[in-house]
Amino acid sequence: MKNIIKKLLISVAALIFSINVFAATEQSLLVANNNPHDVESLQRGARNFMNYCSGCHSAEYVRYEVIASDLGLSDQQVKEYLMFNAQQTFETINTSMLEVDAAGWFGQAPPDLSLMARAKGTDYIYTFLKSFYIDKSSPTGVDNVVLAGTSMPNVLWELQGHQVNLEEDGINHLELEIQGKMSPEEFDFFLRDTVNFLEYMSEPIRNARRALGIKVLFFLAFFLSLAYFLKKEIWKDVK
Ligand code: HEC
Repeated sequence: MKNIIKKLLISVAALIFSINVFAATEQSLLVANNNPHDVESLQRGARNFMNYCSGCHSAEYVRYEVIASDLGLSDQQVKEYLMFNAQQTFETINTSMLEVDAAGWFGQAPPDLSLMARAKGTDYIYTFLKSFYIDKSSPTGVDNVVLAGTSMPNVLWELQGHQVNLEEDGINHLELEIQGKMSPEEFDFFLRDTVNFLEYMSEPIRNARRALGIKVLFFLAFFLSLAYFLKKEIWKDVK
């Protein structure tokens, strides 16, 4: 019996140790702090996405007309500000790039982003977009701390500027060498809106579902009280 307990303790200790080692080698993520209920942020995020991402990435599960109604935009506004690759609002967000071309240019086709926020989380995408740094040996001129060896170029360099990686003892430390058009605060704000839109896209009916949930709860509470008083009324003579 004692032996079993001893073995158990040793394996628990080994497990805790291995989890710690794993955690220490993982790149820690920044917090995106986005709010999918903030419609203005989603509108800005939609604009950012269409201008800076949709050239390469599709969002196959999202229709323009759904974005319009969810984000309080008119068909005209959507056509004018968001639809670069589509003619009709019932179309989904496609990229103008052919998949074979993309695979040739980048080594692999840029993934569809409709469900990316659900798959990887907004903190991950936020950190990913912020973690490009100059690497002259890479074909794109940059590498990324979160996804080493990535084939995605730093498409936001004009806004962010250029970062360098002052790596020490295997620990990455990014520093802005040349500032872009935006200050670091403005750039964070830009990214927060962008990942917010990605989160919205990954579940466009989330807000509607929550609102419906609340209505359903009120409905149930109402009929519960109705049933209670009805029961009282019916049974009052029986007793
Ligand atoms: C010039 C083309 C291009 C543009 C523009 C572009 N990307 Fe990418 N992106 C890529 C490619 C190529 C990959 C695949 C990279 C890989 O797996 O190494 C990728 C991968 C990604 C990934 C997946 C990363 C992972 O961990 O697998 C995310 C998230 C992403 N892009 C977000 C964005 C967002 C958000 C924008 C707009 C701000 C954007 N991309 C603009 C080419 C592009």
